[in-house]
Amino acid sequence: MQSQLDSALKEAADAAGQIRTRAELEALKARLVGPNGSLTLVMRGMATLSKEERPAAGKMVNAAKAQLDEILATVSARVEQAELAALLGPTIDPSLASPDVASGSLHPLTRTRERILATFRKLGFVIAEGPEVETEWHCFDALNTPADHPARDMQDTFYLPKSFRSIDALRKGDEDLLLRTHTSSVQVRTMLSRKPPLRIVAPGRCFRRDAVDATHSANFHQVEGLWVDRHVTLADLRGVLDFFVKETFGPEAETRLRPSFFPFTEPSFEMDIRSPNLGRLSDRWLEVLGCGLVDPKVLESCGLDATEWSGLAFGLGLERIAMLVHGIDDIRHFYANDLRFLRQFA
Ligand code: PHE
Repeated sequence: MQSQLDSALKEAADAAGQIRTRAELEALKARLVGPNGSLTLVMRGMATLSKEERPAAGKMVNAAKAQLDEILATVSARVEQAELAALLGPTIDPSLASPDVASGSLHPLTRTRERILATFRKLGFVIAEGPEVETEWHCFDALNTPADHPARDMQDTFYLPKSFRSIDALRKGDEDLLLRTHTSSVQVRTMLSRKPPLRIVAPGRCFRRDAVDATHSANFHQVEGLWVDRHVTLADLRGVLDFFVKETFGPEAETRLRPSFFPFTEPSFEMDIRSPNLGRLSDRWLEVLGCGLVDPKVLESCGLDATEWSGLAFGLGLERIAMLVHGIDDIRHFYANDLRFLRQFA
């Protein structure tokens, strides 16, 4: 009997290697355990055995069945995999690089912003942020900008309709909400929420009702800087801005402060730069940012004692800097999503 079992198992093991399909597997099963299968016949033969012989025979049959089950399970798993592979089509090697996925790259404005922030980080400035939808108070009043200042005019500023205001959590009383015209509002928010000494740079989107042309966009970006401490002076302002300009435009770049006016700084300046690295613009002074010492009235609006604290502030246009660094002649390129333009900065 053992030899009959062995030959049935051998038959199964030999056939197993050849089997490719489910039909072949079923045929093999029938040959072994079907009504006339070789194993079935052996089991039927047990009926002719004596009572004493049966337990030992039963053990042998069970052991053989267990081995057979194992063989069939292996074949079945292989057949299943083959069926799945046929369903999925040709084999895929996921470790190969895809031929058609081009990797993206950072937008030139993002790159310029990151470079500028990294420069100021070297001087101990940390990043601060404020909302794009701002209250009139943070954008103008706290910055000593009077009600009749032209920046507050409907012609310059996007005010938000009452319906929007009523659902906005920022609403304070009946105050007007607007899209911030500059990042200087972050100066106010920072001085209200942190104790000096402080040094922050605040990058962000700004909005003005400018007619769009090669150098104007209704939507643009600024980086604001604010340093409040005891005895901050014009020398600090010059030092900080000079460092920024040399890091951005090269060590040969020169800076010049030209007297100007902003309601929130006193004195106020426009800073011009001149650098041999600027191609056809190398020979002239170019205006790049507004700056000054924080007006004491602004410090007081933010609850700081102006006899103890002093500050410097500056605000630069991100697009302007990126255009100068890369020799870009039209601000609209930044927003047109033309890959031929964007890929040049990849
Ligand atoms: N907020 C000014 C502007 O948008 C720039 C500025 C910032 C000037 C800080 C002085 C100090 O033009």
